[in-house]
Amino acid sequence: MDSVTQPLRDEHKELLPQIERIRRVADSIGVVPTEVLRQRVDELHRFLSRELIPHAKAEEAVLYPLVARAIGAPEATATMRHDHVEIAGLADELASIEPELSDETLSLEAQHALRRILYGLYTLVRVHFIEEEEIYLPLLDERLDPEEARDMFNALEAAAAHARGLATA
Ligand SMILES: [Fe+2]
Ligand SMILES: [Fe+2]
Repeated sequence: MDSVTQPLRDEHKELLPQIERIRRVADSIGVVPTEVLRQRVDELHRFLSRELIPHAKAEEAVLYPLVARAIGAPEATATMRHDHVEIAGLADELASIEPELSDETLSLEAQHALRRILYGLYTLVRVHFIEEEEIYLPLLDERLDPEEARDMFNALEAAAAHARGLATA
């Protein structure tokens, strides 16, 4: 039987191809024309602000408080919350570099900055997902009954929808 937190593992699995895309876009810097790169970065930025960051906001509102309660210490999720802050910071850096991508040739400096941001994001998000799945979700699998888990996912969905609404407003 699936664990009660399987829907969150599934959600991560759905997000993962886009996370892999972050690495592939980083690999394509200096290889594809700047116009193509600009389009790819634009798509990535949309994914971050409309999907990944709302996912993180929903976790902060719903999942992490439950994990903190399971561990018995409110500060237990501070490191993972901080990962979210770093992810949002890198997404902001990505947005701030986008205007430079309208130049026909991308400066070496901008190429280096873009690689640092994208590879940084890729590694951070991958490790963060693994930590949630391997450390947090087993804690909840042990403690939540199916009904509590269902309530949690409904609340997560509502919080993510709210955050997505703010992102596209
Ligand atoms: Fe997270
Ligand atoms: Fe997550």
